[in-house]
Amino acid sequence: MLRIDVITLFPEMIEGAVTHGVLGQALKKDHLAISAHTPREFANDRHRTVDDRPFGGGDGMIMLAETLEKTLHKVQHKNSKIIYMSPQGKTLTDDLARTFSNEEHLVLICGRYGGIDQRIINSYVDEEVSIGDYVLSGGELGALVLIDAVARFIPGVLGHDESAHKDSFSAGLLEHPNFTRPRVYLEQEVPDVLLSGNHKVIEEWKSKVSALVTLQKRPDLFLEYIHQENLKYQALKKKKKKTPLVELKSFFMSLSDKDKQVLGLQDLTEEDFNV
Ligand code: ADE
Repeated sequence: MLRIDVITLFPEMIEGAVTHGVLGQALKKDHLAISAHTPREFANDRHRTVDDRPFGGGDGMIMLAETLEKTLHKVQHKNSKIIYMSPQGKTLTDDLARTFSNEEHLVLICGRYGGIDQRIINSYVDEEVSIGDYVLSGGELGALVLIDAVARFIPGVLGHDESAHKDSFSAGLLEHPNFTRPRVYLEQEVPDVLLSGNHKVIEEWKSKVSALVTLQKRPDLFLEYIHQENLKYQALKKKKKKTPLVELKSFFMSLSDKDKQVLGLQDLTEEDFNV
């Protein structure tokens, strides 16, 4: 079972957020365990000091090395992976989240104010992770995002074991649009194929729509996807007539205007396939 210990000045922020939804269920079912620890526990002075002004001046307060180190010693063991949440880190992706889900123990350090004393990073941290190119006022929200993304890859956490692998990004594609009842709403009608009951046809249709959505919204991801599909195509002994890109373009051309509209693909044109 994956254990995650979070080191933070605001343990309630973590403890409160993880009790809801999919994460809450995962904790109840012991698919993972999460605890939060505050360095304040190890502050011995009257004010329970955990931070101080930076040497050389500058904005913000820096979390003290000593109280952080003592908190680390409380939770660390030989198989711990220690992560510092920081805008300077490697950007979190689904691939990185999947890798972390295979660890035995993650320790997430959340900085506050001006950050933490660099010597803790030098001596303890295995990896710095950022959740995006923006600066948060602390690492807690980043840690929660990481925990959520990681938990989805733990077998049993989602209804279907494969669900996390079907979602956006797993095959390098964005997810196709989804619809539920009623069949017609806001004068828009759900594509007939989804009501056909033919699962094989539906799955093929969905994966093509995923590719089109990706082409429209994330051409950068689409290029990588089509490159992989071309490699598979070239490895085929018996070549199909159409290359993956030509096949996708034909599929797009075969969609009715009404279906393009309801799928949000009305602005995609033939020229967009010239990649
Ligand atoms: N702490 C402050 N900004 C952050 C970011 N972008 N990602 C992770 N932790 C952070």
